[in-house]
Amino acid sequence: MTISYEMPALGYEVEKKMQTQNEKGSVANLSGSGFLMPDTNSFGHNFRDYDAESARREGVENFYRANHINQTYDFVNKMREAYGKLNRMEMSIWECCELLNDVVDESDPDLDEPQIEHLLQTAEAIRKDYPDQDWLHLIGLIHDLGKVLLHPTFGGLPQWAVVGDTFPVGCAFDESIVHHKVVYANVKMHQLPTKVSLLIGCPVKYVTVFISMDAQYFKENLDDSNPLYNTKYGAYSEGCGLNNVMMSWGHDDYMYLVAKENNANLPSAALFIIRYHSFYSLHRSGAYRHLMNDEDVENLKWLRIFNKYDLYSKSKVRIDIEIVKPYYLSLIDKYFPAKKIKW
Ligand SMILES: [Fe+2]
Ligand SMILES: [Fe+2]
Repeated sequence: MTISYEMPALGYEVEKKMQTQNEKGSVANLSGSGFLMPDTNSFGHNFRDYDAESARREGVENFYRANHINQTYDFVNKMREAYGKLNRMEMSIWECCELLNDVVDESDPDLDEPQIEHLLQTAEAIRKDYPDQDWLHLIGLIHDLGKVLLHPTFGGLPQWAVVGDTFPVGCAFDESIVHHKVVYANVKMHQLPTKVSLLIGCPVKYVTVFISMDAQYFKENLDDSNPLYNTKYGAYSEGCGLNNVMMSWGHDDYMYLVAKENNANLPSAALFIIRYHSFYSLHRSGAYRHLMNDEDVENLKWLRIFNKYDLYSKSKVRIDIEIVKPYYLSLIDKYFPAKKIKW
């Protein structure tokens, strides 16, 4: 189990990992749902543990460097204009799921399997716990389809322009945005601040403290020195609504445009989940709330529900695609009435 503590006085994040008796493959029950959350991902590491002893660590760090430097307000405008035309191809949602099988998301430390496995794992886990919210099952299936931007048919965009955590552009970058440079140290209990020791509230043998240091990649982003875009509100105003905020370009915003422009019959919470599901500084750290309107606040509740399935269903649960396919085809028919949609 991993517990995170914010330590404002010291300005870094502390994660305490309590080693329980049955570590590997053990599951924890998320409060409020029957969803069993595995402790480890496909590689046997803790979820979103960017500092795990993984061969991919360096790659992930390089990825975020390119991402933070190149995602500018102008870049996003250009990409939205180019890809918002939806003139690349026409195909059904299911055909897109199959196309996505060729794609691997290099930024994700939790996943090393074909995308369709992740899509169906997410959708099926939601279906089990929320049987009546069929639109949410469909979002499980389609939320990552925008990753076709990596495919040669869609111009084969670099990973940093397709995947990874997203954040607003056009206003100051919040310090909660990954990827920090992370170092870690083993710390004895008595070395922790008293407040944190009390919070733990149960006997533990040792504590691993992760210290995040801002890697300052955003300093090299042109917007960071532009007075139009480097203030708290930048190009926006208080409560303007996230709909009016430009997000760093990637599969989330692209799939949002695809669903919206093809007139999908989806509720507003569904579009919200698609567009912001990688916006971790919002749904994990609560940043950028000053830009939200009342509808965003409501929709964020659904996003938080969705997110735990998106994150924690990336495990070795195999899905028999042929068995579940008819159900998902019926949902696609219901919410995307056109046989082929524009991409
Ligand atoms: Fe995603
Ligand atoms: Fe996902």
